[in-house]
Amino acid sequence: MNLGVIGTGYVGLIQGLCLAELGNYVVCVDNDEAKIKSLELGVPPIHEPMLDELLKKNISCGRIKFSTDVRKHIKDLDVIFIAVGTPSDHDGRADLTYVFNAATEISLHMHNDQVVVVKSTVPIGTCKLIEKRIKQKFQGNFEVVSNPEFLREGSAIYDFMNPDRVVIGGTNEFRGVEKIANLYKPLQTTILLTNYETSETIKYASNSYLATQISFINTISRLCEKTGADITKVAEGMKLDKRIGAKAQLRAGIGYGGSCFPKDVKALVNIANDNGVRFGILEEVVKANIIQREFFVDKIKRNLGELDGLTIAVWGLSFKPGTDDMRDAPSIYIIKSLLNEKATIITYDPAVSAEILKIIPHVQIAESPLEACKGADALLVLTEWDEFSKVKWADIAKKMRNKIIFDGRNMLDSKVLEKRGFKYHSLGRTGIQ
Ligand code: UGA
Repeated sequence: MNLGVIGTGYVGLIQGLCLAELGNYVVCVDNDEAKIKSLELGVPPIHEPMLDELLKKNISCGRIKFSTDVRKHIKDLDVIFIAVGTPSDHDGRADLTYVFNAATEISLHMHNDQVVVVKSTVPIGTCKLIEKRIKQKFQGNFEVVSNPEFLREGSAIYDFMNPDRVVIGGTNEFRGVEKIANLYKPLQTTILLTNYETSETIKYASNSYLATQISFINTISRLCEKTGADITKVAEGMKLDKRIGAKAQLRAGIGYGGSCFPKDVKALVNIANDNGVRFGILEEVVKANIIQREFFVDKIKRNLGELDGLTIAVWGLSFKPGTDDMRDAPSIYIIKSLLNEKATIITYDPAVSAEILKIIPHVQIAESPLEACKGADALLVLTEWDEFSKVKWADIAKKMRNKIIFDGRNMLDSKVLEKRGFKYHSLGRTGIQ
């Protein structure tokens, strides 16, 4: 099919590229000229495994192209995906300006039998509003379809190609739902067909439920520190219950971040409120996530005392490994809190370097984990990048002034570190506080 994707952010780019890989002809549109120029040259704007090779391959075989002008392409398309951003406004509600602008633009140039697919995460009821908007300008046969995305950053292409499910919401009035379901057939997964509202709700409910698991296990980890239980074993024991499941998100740490969980949880609280339903559990999920970051900072202060004059090495800045995304990363809050106490901060992250200065000026940037530790009074691990478990601890020990580690991701082996003379702190693990 001939497909168009409006918005070449993380969602749109992966969607467009993977559908090209499945054999469709795709044009990805964005109004950011620099981004489009660089994509045309095969240079992706984000860090994502397999992205480089898939991009170059699909450009060279002519299945994907890029453009800044959506109007030029609409007439040639069977399906148009809307994948523009829905940032949070000041009170946590999704701002739909970009989504509605895209819908209006499409409506001015469309023809019969086209399908408009909403990939952006939108509040429940939005697809109906989009349909209404388009109808005001275009009275022919068209269909709006809701098709939320469930990709994780850092494994987005793998997730697209191996989905747990595809959710499609719509009326199928002009066989639009069927058309979109066919696009995903090669993936051989469960395709759940439903109405707009259910599809929109599945997206928010899934992300909010996953975030709830994280706040839940983080709160249990704080309890473990008081009682002497071990959070790793607690999570292991819980996951053996098939109703909870081996893949449950129960890794305790410094809290969830990123562009999705923080935004979507708050948006669902607001959507529920607007519909007269108080979602107290989710309000607590948000609070517990903040408390977890504060708890980690308190632990550092409790153990190091006065921070003025101390140098602290930080390994890991991105909100999770496998990405350079810093949106709502717990590292931002933690580093800012330590800078407020006048600590000197030296950071290392394999994917984030100078860009950190735009978010937090006044940190120093090192080129390697070892370099970050030079003269450090403590080391913090804030993202669980694989390379941090492979360092030579004997070399790190020689570089540091004081051998103290605060592991915000519970990723390191306390026994190995204690053997090397480190004092090791993590979150909720027996005997390590
Ligand atoms: C999340 C969802 O997992 C995707 O299904 C969804 O499509 C996406 O949001 C979205 O709405 O676009 P993502 O934000 O990429 O994906 O990242 P996750 O891997 O889910 O991690 C989110 C945060 O939770 C990270 O900060 C991570 O460190 C934290 N986390 C995750 C934990 O603290 N503990 C865990 O056990 C799991």
